[in-house]
Amino acid sequence: MSDAFDNNLIIQVIANASKYLEPISATPVLDAEILMAHVLGIDRQKLVLYHNSIIDKRILTRFKRLLSRRLKNEPVAYIVGYKEFYSLPFKVNKHVLIPRPETELLVDCAIYYAKQHATLIDIGTGSGAIAIAIKYNRPDCSVWASDISSNALKVAKQNANTILGKNKIKFLQSNLFDSIPPMTFDVIVSNPPYINPDIYYQLQKDVHYEPKEALLAPDNGFSIIKSLIEKAHDYLSDNGLLIIEIGEDLSSRIEHFASLHNFSISILKDYAGLPRIASLKK
Ligand SMILES: C[S@@+](CC[C@H](N)C(=O)[O-])C[C@H]1O[C@@H](n2cnc3c(N)ncnc32)[C@H](O)[C@@H]1O
Repeated sequence: MSDAFDNNLIIQVIANASKYLEPISATPVLDAEILMAHVLGIDRQKLVLYHNSIIDKRILTRFKRLLSRRLKNEPVAYIVGYKEFYSLPFKVNKHVLIPRPETELLVDCAIYYAKQHATLIDIGTGSGAIAIAIKYNRPDCSVWASDISSNALKVAKQNANTILGKNKIKFLQSNLFDSIPPMTFDVIVSNPPYINPDIYYQLQKDVHYEPKEALLAPDNGFSIIKSLIEKAHDYLSDNGLLIIEIGEDLSSRIEHFASLHNFSISILKDYAGLPRIASLKK
């Protein structure tokens, strides 16, 4: 690999690296640019200012190290340690799911539908992405966030402190509603695990770096969504909303189950036209 990179302009190193990345990444140029900006310690938008500089030897050594991790399918977000979500920078590590762009739709819904001074909870908060993005845009709301994983909660709390300041969100460790005190919320949001374990090995290799507990749910991906729907009634205020991100193959099962539990349900499609957000009204 070294001959292709040594004594080169930064723009050339990026071009060469993206050629290497083509077979394993859908976004090879972007990946190479993010890694280069990271080793240079600059924003990606500023890379253009460095394009025609010869790459420093130590920077190149670091870049090659990161590139070889990416070539083993490790996601760029874990390599650089952060991911942008809802235009905010979230620290991520192997204990949390990397926030996905389609989840921004769930945040849009919560921000739009929550009444003034609403009380909200994000179940399965992971990096804290959903809860923090909501609180950032709707500081009037009182926001809670929970996760079963103590390691995920550590990351979520760090993100909340950095992005919002201290004590803006109430965090607690809980298996779904088990440790949540008896109270009601105006909005419950969740992006729960919803992938069918049978298809785990067919998923992109990058996904195998993410925590399995954040991705997979028994019963073809339905079991955690099912428990959320079964238990949400007790924790929702009158006319309260349960907003869940769902797998596209689960929508008719969820519609049926939600109506059995006396919710009125609507399903929103994502930008790819796939059913993605289920909004259940008590
Ligand atoms: C798909 S990830 C979503 C993370 C984050 N909310 C996001 O959208 O990027 C699901 C999260 O649910 C958590 N989780 C899994 N089972 C849970 C359970 N029974 N109770 C609470 N949280 C759970 C996982 O630890 C993980 O952080």
